[in-house]
Amino acid sequence: MALQQSLDDGPIQYVEHTHHGDWHFIFLDSTIADSEKAHLSQETLQTLETHLQSAPDTHTLICLHHQPVPTGSEWLDTMAVDNAAEFFAIIENHPQVRGILWGHVHQEFDGMYRNIRLMSSPSTCVQFLPGSKEFAVDTATPGYRWLEFHPDGRIETGVERIAALSGDIELASNGY
Ligand SMILES: [Fe+2]
Repeated sequence: MALQQSLDDGPIQYVEHTHHGDWHFIFLDSTIADSEKAHLSQETLQTLETHLQSAPDTHTLICLHHQPVPTGSEWLDTMAVDNAAEFFAIIENHPQVRGILWGHVHQEFDGMYRNIRLMSSPSTCVQFLPGSKEFAVDTATPGYRWLEFHPDGRIETGVERIAALSGDIELASNGY
């Protein structure tokens, strides 16, 4: 909400969804106020359904902050979307969905759910150690995910990382 308000009149605008070229992009708020956990409200799920119904023949990418599937890190997965089954139940009725993209996990993830590409982006700050039971920082360098959306529905994507870690990053930190 704060981000939404602060972006209200800048060059970057908050939108629920947008069409660009042959693609439809839908952005969902998975945050819970004053909590690190994640949930998609009934209102948000209804918005998703409405936007999907509005363009059934347009390749679609859905973006949200938190992971809708487990990452394999116990501590991080306490913050996965807690009603992801409802989310996937909607998506299953809309075959135009080609991909789902999220952040939050500070590590790279690239998988499939049926024929839908599931992707997370690494963080542009510290990385979290994949597969870790408790909070742990990885020595992998900050990075980003690039994406190309093709007219035939194909997603080309990859991760780029900077060459070296800044000396300012505290690898023994208890949290970031
Ligand atoms: Fe986060």
